[in-house]
Amino acid sequence: MVCFLEAADFSFFQKGHIMKTNIGMTKAESSKVVEILSHYLADSYYLYIKTHNFHWNVTGMYFQNLHKLFDEQYSALFESLDQIAERIRSLGEFVPATFAQLKELTCLKETKDIPKDREMIKMLLEDHETIIRNLRTWIEEVDEAGDAGTSDFLTARIEEHEKIAWMLRSHFD
Ligand SMILES: [Fe+2]
Repeated sequence: MVCFLEAADFSFFQKGHIMKTNIGMTKAESSKVVEILSHYLADSYYLYIKTHNFHWNVTGMYFQNLHKLFDEQYSALFESLDQIAERIRSLGEFVPATFAQLKELTCLKETKDIPKDREMIKMLLEDHETIIRNLRTWIEEVDEAGDAGTSDFLTARIEEHEKIAWMLRSHFD
């Protein structure tokens, strides 16, 4: 199931004094793509925080391996945040980047407790799979809007999430 929060508030877009883009997309097309990228940014931020949380708080027999694996994964997610945000700026809009805005935009859930190590892996896997399903839909919508650059970017991102999901899934028989 794709979770896409239609009700998010995008009224802050184009509030600043910035020059309009002239890149062959209508305002409606670029706004649609920016909304998608904003949801993706929020999901990625939430998953970055969760992965870093688990890097710090994992315990058990496999501590060393999981501590290191989560380190690699949160570092890669952190790098992607800048790429997603700068893609939004390239389309001429400002980036929703406060906790309140990201909370409104994400469809991922936070963890309150410290889960067992296996549960951590399962939770991260489920979040990556949610993002992969979302991206599959979003890429189609971005293609419909005629945005080749974002389509290419999101296609590369889906491959990255699929690889991480495979690594997480491989912990289970
Ligand atoms: Fe660390």
